[in-house]
Amino acid sequence: MNQQKESAFQKKVFIETMGCAMNVKDTEHMLAELESKEGYKLTQNAKEADLILINTCSVREKPERKLFSEIGQYDKLKKKGAKIGVCGCTASHLGQEILTKSKAVSFVLGARNVSKITSIIHQEGAVEVDTDYDDSRYVFASNSSHSTLKAMVNISIGCDKQCTYCIVPHTRGEEISIPADIILKEVQKAVDDGAIEVLLLGQNVNNYGRRFSTEHTPMNFTQLLQEISKIDGLKRIRFTSPHPLQMDNAFLEEFANNPKICKSIHIPLQSGSDKILKLMKRGYTQDWYLQRIRKLRELIPSVSIGTDIIVAFPYEEEADFLETMRVLEEVRFDTMYSFIYSPRPHTEASRWGIQVNAEEALNRLIRLQNRHKEILEQNNAQEIGTVCEVLWENIREDGFLEGKSDHAKLVRAPFKNGLIGKVGYAQILDARRAYLIGEAI
Ligand code: 5AD
Ligand code: SF4
Repeated sequence: MNQQKESAFQKKVFIETMGCAMNVKDTEHMLAELESKEGYKLTQNAKEADLILINTCSVREKPERKLFSEIGQYDKLKKKGAKIGVCGCTASHLGQEILTKSKAVSFVLGARNVSKITSIIHQEGAVEVDTDYDDSRYVFASNSSHSTLKAMVNISIGCDKQCTYCIVPHTRGEEISIPADIILKEVQKAVDDGAIEVLLLGQNVNNYGRRFSTEHTPMNFTQLLQEISKIDGLKRIRFTSPHPLQMDNAFLEEFANNPKICKSIHIPLQSGSDKILKLMKRGYTQDWYLQRIRKLRELIPSVSIGTDIIVAFPYEEEADFLETMRVLEEVRFDTMYSFIYSPRPHTEASRWGIQVNAEEALNRLIRLQNRHKEILEQNNAQEIGTVCEVLWENIREDGFLEGKSDHAKLVRAPFKNGLIGKVGYAQILDARRAYLIGEAI
């Protein structure tokens, strides 16, 4: 009875999250701060929320354009007196403009200012979007009631690269590594709360250790992985995303030989054409990228590789696009996120305008995606008959168990007791494009 009363008066927060894993983590941080310091509780129903947060992404133009219509919708359905806050990358990028354009918004909190969430909710009309702000040593609240098998832990903030298409350095500021002792404590805490897998997050994880905000013993990403893997009870380590340029042999060998590191890796290619890679200022060539992949496959023949690709970048000709297709043919990515180039403010490439017409851009995207679908079907068919390691995470509505293999494939298997939350093995019996079907053994 008392509990019911309490929950009826408890403040509720609704959070919509767009964009990448960093944003998902920022949402987690904001929620933990609001729960532990301001007494909020998460709701999935925006209508009953006292606070509505929209955690935005600005990497492409389309979701950014939708922001104001979304604010309008929340404004219509929200209960009287509820506040709307705009957070994340679009908040960093548009700042005050959001308040000027929409009277419904109470405050704007940038992607680099997440630790200010508990103060900004009390400041009507506040805009906190300073991209020099350093919260790399801020220890966020954590809420053990949200313990999960898989934890996400930030290892750096911001981004130091200068990719000519990318708005992120403008929204998240310069790259600062989080001190190793803070990372290790957070992983340990997650493990104590029940996690067996950790996903390390950063814009360029293998740039780790280039700059700390205070004195720190030298440490690179490979060394950080070694330290994290010493944590007892932690069974699996994943990370996203490494930059192809910093993938030295020491890193590749650690990746291959450390049994806790899952053998799946996301290595953004962006383009297969040397001309386009140069215009993008990616710092590597097709040959370098392929040479890294070959070395990786030499060390781990079964490694699963994912990527991001942009088509129709300014000055991309058919011949350049065919170079991207060529890399797809050789690498045969297991996962591929592909996008039509979208000019973003504050980026070098936006000055070059759109050079490839929309019809041709879509044509390239479809050709790339269709070929990738065929490759994926073939890749997955090759898994039939193999045995893979799976973290069983949930039971589907159809009664099947579901989990992720250590090479990041979704696996489904008929239910067996006592497996949820455990890492086990599955014999793969059949394959679809989106998942594998197996039997837990
Ligand atoms: N246009 C299209 N795609 C982009 N990405 C980043 N910036 C742009 C842009 N301006 C893609 C890249 C990146 C992923 C997160 O989004 O592929 O790796
Ligand atoms: Fe993540 Fe980039 Fe989107 Fe920001 S702009 S949320 S860093 S994908």
